[in-house]
Amino acid sequence: MKRQLISLLVLCFGIFQLQAADKQVIRISTAATDLIFQVGANGRLYQSYLGPRFMNGTDIECLSKDRNVAAQGWEVYPGSGMEDYFEPALGITHNDGNMATLLKFVSQEVRRIDTNVEETIITLKDEVYPIEVKLHYVSFAKENVIKSWSEICHREKKPVTLFRYASAMFYFESPRYFLTEFSGDWAREAMMTSQELQFGKKIIDTKLGSRAAMHAHPFFQLGLGHPVAENEGLVLVGTIGWTGNFRFTFEVDNVGNLRVISGINPYASCYELVPGEVFKTPEFIFTLSGNGVGDASRNLHDWARHYQVKDGLGARLTLLNNWENTGFNFNEEILLGLMKEAKHLGVDMFLLDDGWFGNNHPRNDDRAGLGDWEPMKSKLPNGVGPLVEGAEKAGVKFGIWVEPEMVNPKSDLFEEHPEWVIHQPNREPYYYRNQLVLDMSNPKVQDYVYGIIDNLMTRHPGIAFFKWDCNSPITNIYSPYLKNKQSQLYIDHVRGIYSVLERLKEKYPNLPMMLCSGGGARCDYEALKYFTEFWPSDNTEPVERIFIQWGFSQVFPSQVLCAHVTGWGKQSVKFRTDVAMMCKLGFDIGIADMTADEQAFCQEAVKNFKRLSPVILQGDFYRLVSPYETNHAAVVHVGKDKRKAVLYAYDLYPRFGEKLFPVKLQGLNPVKNYKIEEINLMPGHQSDLTAHGKIYSGDFLMKVGIDVFTGNKTHSRILEITAQ
Ligand code: DGJ
Repeated sequence: MKRQLISLLVLCFGIFQLQAADKQVIRISTAATDLIFQVGANGRLYQSYLGPRFMNGTDIECLSKDRNVAAQGWEVYPGSGMEDYFEPALGITHNDGNMATLLKFVSQEVRRIDTNVEETIITLKDEVYPIEVKLHYVSFAKENVIKSWSEICHREKKPVTLFRYASAMFYFESPRYFLTEFSGDWAREAMMTSQELQFGKKIIDTKLGSRAAMHAHPFFQLGLGHPVAENEGLVLVGTIGWTGNFRFTFEVDNVGNLRVISGINPYASCYELVPGEVFKTPEFIFTLSGNGVGDASRNLHDWARHYQVKDGLGARLTLLNNWENTGFNFNEEILLGLMKEAKHLGVDMFLLDDGWFGNNHPRNDDRAGLGDWEPMKSKLPNGVGPLVEGAEKAGVKFGIWVEPEMVNPKSDLFEEHPEWVIHQPNREPYYYRNQLVLDMSNPKVQDYVYGIIDNLMTRHPGIAFFKWDCNSPITNIYSPYLKNKQSQLYIDHVRGIYSVLERLKEKYPNLPMMLCSGGGARCDYEALKYFTEFWPSDNTEPVERIFIQWGFSQVFPSQVLCAHVTGWGKQSVKFRTDVAMMCKLGFDIGIADMTADEQAFCQEAVKNFKRLSPVILQGDFYRLVSPYETNHAAVVHVGKDKRKAVLYAYDLYPRFGEKLFPVKLQGLNPVKNYKIEEINLMPGHQSDLTAHGKIYSGDFLMKVGIDVFTGNKTHSRILEITAQ
């Protein structure tokens, strides 16, 4: 019976395919977006539409006829060396030295994965060289997200050289294009800047290898026709899932069309593809919104939680970290004390940071010890075991920091295995933070790195969390392992990391891990398949942090953005906590150094956060007042059932006598009534908010709003809004 059903489905599917091939139109849709391809009379595949979804399917036929597909431009995956004069998606040097490739449509296949998800696979082939490319498009209907990647393989006699290998390429036709990029450096991540694109190319890329996104993050926003705005206008938000060198190319051509090419950065990365091997590119993930980036962010947040992030719908652990508090200066007794502080605070976990390992080369600063993952006897004479037990006794979980892909030259590991380390054989090394990067293209190194976590877990199954750091870009680029295939290092290195992470995920599927890279220099959706969260920045000065969180929130849900209350900044503990509570709350500060009132405030904030975390971490996020445009900021998380919302209002540096405007909420149910209560108040303080304790309709709150801002500098409020 089951077999018959399958045969019937295959038959129906075959008929559908035939019809599609007959019409030579391929429609990839979400609930709100249509991406339409058409096979031209010349057998090549062209993009005929990417935009809001058509109401009538029949309009697509008009589109196919109307857009008289030109030979130049709009080809879905153009090869290099033919008549397209702009940046190609694919570049191959064939066995005979010829550098031209031209792909023709062969077939398409549609796989329904579930009621919400569908995958379309399009096969293209070169008629002159035995090259095959499969383009994959997975559409998530409800979330309005499409992800796409390509697979390249060949049957030439010897390896071919890939010099371009885009994940995807899309075209836009609009009078003006506006690009928002996210760039920065250590402690100033995700700074948003915008520019209008003109003729020619704008490239956002990185060549840093491991700490790859230190200067540019792997996502962008594209305003089609208008500058990117929060609640209006057609905008595409795109991101690439690749924890290494990436490149986005935006090229406006001679007639004003824009092509956007996303993929691994081909810089110094020509790839020798052997016959039969499949080169799979990273996923390019995008959403198209007709209502500005607010909507686009919520699409990505929903998609990420449901489909991409490790344990995306699960709870998260609040924690006390020791890095900003003790740095490298701690011992067992101090740590056991901090675990008690964690318990006193009410958080779930104590997280031990850098500095717990290394004996011949003790890790007492950042100049030695990386690579030697044995507990340092002078600090921890009894090893890690008593720490795990100590945490258990204190009533909290225990997490630990590692930086597994790195090595200090002052380490046993480097002395024993210099051949495992990326460095030049014939030049003086250049060190970034006194360290070098292990060669993850080498399977022996992969085993070693896997073993760091696996050994810790085997010896101490009670370890509940890892913070996985990566502080150095790849310097001195040479792999002793890859020998004469150096141009594959950047790619094989990242693949090596994924292979380790995959093994770890398989063995420890429920182990939460935080991704960190000297702050937020690793922040991509491929890594987040293996990590439950990431550390956006070492900068926790709360005003700066509002900008950083604002930036990352464009693409990531609050649930994956760790935010800690630290000693950075001179503002009140309340202000620092209110900022951290917008994302996944943690602390990295000496609790015992705080006043009794501050401690009581933090305890209350932790309770509030835990109580409200289904809304804060899983709800819909609306950015209401931008710190980029005003001297204030406001955001709100609204629970999926619209029964509860949490509003955050921050006064940054208001000017004297500045006119203050009420904040209009979004996402509430207009016909429901909501009670407003200010929470996170310092002990003994009463709310002076006029709206405190009052009830308003959702409609009123969204049309008129409430007065939450003040003229005070670095002042904050958190309001709990509850449907009656
Ligand atoms: C960089 C991270 O961003 C910090 O949080 C901390 O873990 C240090 N590394 C430790 O060296």
